[in-house]
Order: sequence, then C-alpha cells, then structure tokens
Amino acid sequence: MNKGSGAWIGGRSAHRPLGIDIGASAIKAVKVRRSGHTAKIVKTYLVEIPRERAERPSPELVAESLKKFLNEQKISTDRFVSSFPLSSAIVRNAVVPLQGHHKIRQVIKFQAEPHIPFPIEEVVIDFLETAAAEDNKTPVIIIGAKKELIAKQLELWNAAGLDPEILGVDAFALVNNYLLRAGAAAPEQMVMLLDIGATKTLLVIMRGRSAILARSISVGGDDITEALQKEFAIDFQSAEKLKREKATAVLGEQPSGDEERIQKTISPILTRLASEVDRSMRSTSATLKGAEVSRLYLSGGGALLARMGELLSREFGCEARLLSSLAPFDGSGGDEAMCAAGIATGLAIQGLGMGGAEVDFRRDDFAYAGGLARAKRQMVIAAILGVCILGVLTFNFTSLFIKKRHEHAALAKELEQIYRETFPGEQAAGAVSVAARMEQKFKEYHQSYERFSSLSDTAVSSLEILREISALVPEEIKVQVTNLSVSQDRVEMDGLVNSPADADRIKQALQRSKYFKTVDVPSTSAHGGNKHKFKLTAAIGK
Ligand SMILES: Nc1ncnc2c1ncn2[C@@H]1O[C@H](COP(=O)(O)OP(=O)(O)OP(=O)(O)O)[C@@H](O)[C@H]1O
Ligand SMILES: [Mg+2]
Repeated sequence: MNKGSGAWIGGRSAHRPLGIDIGASAIKAVKVRRSGHTAKIVKTYLVEIPRERAERPSPELVAESLKKFLNEQKISTDRFVSSFPLSSAIVRNAVVPLQGHHKIRQVIKFQAEPHIPFPIEEVVIDFLETAAAEDNKTPVIIIGAKKELIAKQLELWNAAGLDPEILGVDAFALVNNYLLRAGAAAPEQMVMLLDIGATKTLLVIMRGRSAILARSISVGGDDITEALQKEFAIDFQSAEKLKREKATAVLGEQPSGDEERIQKTISPILTRLASEVDRSMRSTSATLKGAEVSRLYLSGGGALLARMGELLSREFGCEARLLSSLAPFDGSGGDEAMCAAGIATGLAIQGLGMGGAEVDFRRDDFAYAGGLARAKRQMVIAAILGVCILGVLTFNFTSLFIKKRHEHAALAKELEQIYRETFPGEQAAGAVSVAARMEQKFKEYHQSYERFSSLSDTAVSSLEILREISALVPEEIKVQVTNLSVSQDRVEMDGLVNSPADADRIKQALQRSKYFKTVDVPSTSAHGGNKHKFKLTAAIGK
C-alpha cells in the first residue's frame, strides 16, 4: 500500500516515522525514510532495560526506561508507531461474505462477534485479508484487543511521553518488514517468520504475501539464560554473558567440556521451541493439503545465538537465515542491531505507509488525536515556506531593479553626451528630456528630408539644385561659399568673390536656370584682402 507524498499531510504515511518496540529486555527503535520503492534506515536505537532476573520487567521499570530513552536521545520524528503484543490479542481466521476492503471494514465488528470471547463493545477489532475473494467471499484474519488492555498500555506510555499515532501488532509488524524486503514474493511460496525475543517467540506463516497463521510461543532467550544461571549458579548478567559468548545451538566437531555442558543445559529449551514450530508447520500443512514451509526468516535477539540458523535448518530441512539479510535496507547497521530490531523496523515501515499488513488499534475510542495538530503544524510550515519563497522572489526583483536603474543612469549619461556632441548649441537636461528632444530633432530632420523630397513635385531635389548652381557658375569666377541654405522654395547663398561684378555674373548665370523664378543679389560689400562679400537669394520654381 504505497502512498505518495500527498498522503503525508494528515494521511497514513509520514516522512521519517520512528517504529518503537518495547520488549521485555530492551527498547528497540528504528527511524526510516522512503527511498524509491523501499525504505532507508535513518537510525537505529537499542537500549537495554536493566534487569536482575529473567522475567518481564514491571510496568514502572518499562515506563522509566522509556522516559529515559525519549529524553536522552532527543528523538525527533513526525510519527511514532508502536505495537500491541500478539500474546494479548485475539486472532481468528474467518471468511466474510463480502469483498472489498472498505465494505468489509463496515461489517467486520458484526462478523467478528461470534469469534470473540468477550462482549464486542469491549474490544477493538481490525482485520487483514488473507487471500483474494472468491464467490464474493473473503478469507480474513480477525485481530482484536480488549479496550481495557489498550487503555492501560497507552496510559503507561503517555505518562512516559509517548503517544504513538499507530498502534500495530508486533507479529504483523514483522510481516510488514518481510513484505517490503520480499517484494513480489511467489504467490504460493510458504515461508515462516520467527522472532525469538527474551520472553517469547513470535511465529508467522506466510503464503505469498498473506499471513495465514500468527502465534506467540512462550519460549525465548530468557529461558536459556535462566537455565544457565541455575546450572552454573551464577547471577543473571553473568549467565547472559556466558550465553552470548559460549553457548551454541549446535555443537561443533570437537567441543570443550564447558561447551558440552552449556549445550546440554540449553538443548531442552531449543527442543521445546523447535517442537512448537513443528506443530505450527504441521497444522498449516494439514489445512493446506501438504503445502510446506520452504524457508525460515529469523529475527529477535534470540536468533543471534550461535548456530541457531543451522539448528533450525537441520530440524526442518529448509534454509534458515536472518530476516535482516533479505534485501537489506540502505543504512542498516550490523546483524546484532538489525536482528533485534525486526519488529521496530516493521513498525517504522507501517509508519511510512509501505507495509502490507497494516493492523492498527488506534481506532474507535483510541483514535489518535494528534493528527489534526500535525496537519495544522504542516500547514504552518507550508505557510512559512511560502513566505520565504516570496521573500526570495522580492529580493531578486529588488536587486534586478537596482541593477537596471544603474544601467539606466549610465545610458542616460551616454545619451546626454551624444546629444551634446550632436547638437553643441542645445542644452540637454536629463535622460528623458534628452531622449525626447533627440526624438524631436530626428522628427525635424525627417520633415526636412521629406520637404526636400517633396521638391520632386517640381522635379527638383536639393542635390540637383546644388549641382545646377555649380554647373551654371562660370569656371573662371573664383567663389568661396560661406553659407548655403536650400529650402523648399528658396536658396540663400553667402560668399566671397574677387569683385562685385563677379557677383553680378553669378546672378546672371543662375537666372538662366530652369529651377529659379527670380535671382537677386541684395547686397555686396568689400571684405578686405581684395575680396567682396555678397548675398544671393533665389526663388525656386518657374
Ligand atoms: N549474541 C546473542 N546470543 C544469544 N542471545 C542473544 C544475543 N544477543 C541477544 N540475545 C538474547 O536476545 C534476547 C533479547 O532479544 P529481543 O531484544 O528481541 O527481545 P525482547 O524484544 O526484548 O523480548 P520480548 O520480545 O520477549 O519482549 C535476550 O534473551 C538476549 O539474551
Ligand atoms: Mg521482542
């Protein structure tokens, strides 16, 4: 049941959930995050509960250890997922006359009623489908827990500072762990999951991706420790040490005297465990017409007993290996940490919304109340992020604006410079006015050009007028033109000649032109240096 990140806000998946398994001997916690289609281990914790004897610690000691763990580790997570023990739950196989998860959920309480040995209103019920529906009937495992027990457990944890958002069941957490590792397991392949803890062993038989049997066996590592404690007359801690360092489930080729004594001491316990496993295998095989378990996956601290896999493998004639060695998740620690953390890992996977057996007792009276608060918190975070993004955009805009303003100022200066060079007599004031005035000047020039062009009405362009003047003025007359202006209807020329007679001859020459109506020399005057200044005007158009 993989969920996208959209399901995160207030949904059934979290980004970095922490699965927390409070066992009899230790608190194991695993933080995970999604990594593609699988999970990545972010962190694992293993904190021993200090015990003097091989027995379940008192609720007070558990609460104290839990509180210490949460405070000292400064845990940060967006979801706590913890578990209810299968040994205190009611598990029944049944067939409901319906198909479809939602439809089954609506009626599961009524369907469960005949299978539950308590009044149904005193029990929280969840279920798992164990096979595909056939003829509108679905085989299910009904899982129930007395409200009174759930309340007690939550109360104890709440007092220690833990309010798990999901309350799974330890055995099904193991299933979630296995399913994510196994991927698309062969539909008919039967495997057994065995979590050997301190006080109990959880056993689950899987067919393909469905759990078909789940039970708790009251044999665990504590039984071995206790037997050694008695045999060697030592305290609990020394017996624990002896077990971890010297005990083996199967004797080697040439065992020492001590090793033989240890093995002999623990062997009845191992035999008891093996016979319980065998009983479950036989009963399943009988129900499933001879189908056999083909592989064993071990977890729990007890599975670390030397040569435990070898013993089980010999006993049942199939491969037995550590569950943590099946498609190991990135970030996994060594065997010791991951082996004991089999249930915590499965709980964390359920927190990610990636489990395949998501039993949850936080429903009915125990529905988690922190979901809304978390959704609100996430909305606030989203709002803060939004403001930050807006801030960055505003900053970018402002810096771009300042940069452009500088560029604009530089351009204005350049424009002013060009204006001054182009129109030295004009006064430039500011970039905008310079640009506007420049535009005005261009307009004027354009109009002048148009006017010149419009002389074409009389078939004359300014260029032609100039050519005409220079062609008509006799070559022997030396004329120095100091000003010549040609407009639409008039030519004005100022210049210097050698004598007033020369000015007169120019006038006569121009009078012969087809372009000029009249030609006048309104003034001549001595200029100095034997030169005479003259002014000539001609009206264009004949
Ligand atoms: N290296 C080892 N060799 C043998 N036994 C070991 C080793 N390491 C741990 N154990 C045993 O594993 C058991 C603890 O396992 P685990 O942490 O899975 O149990 P738990 O979850 O605390 O108990 P329970 O599941 O019964 O509540 C203890 O009995 C411990 O002695
Ligand atoms: Mg355990």
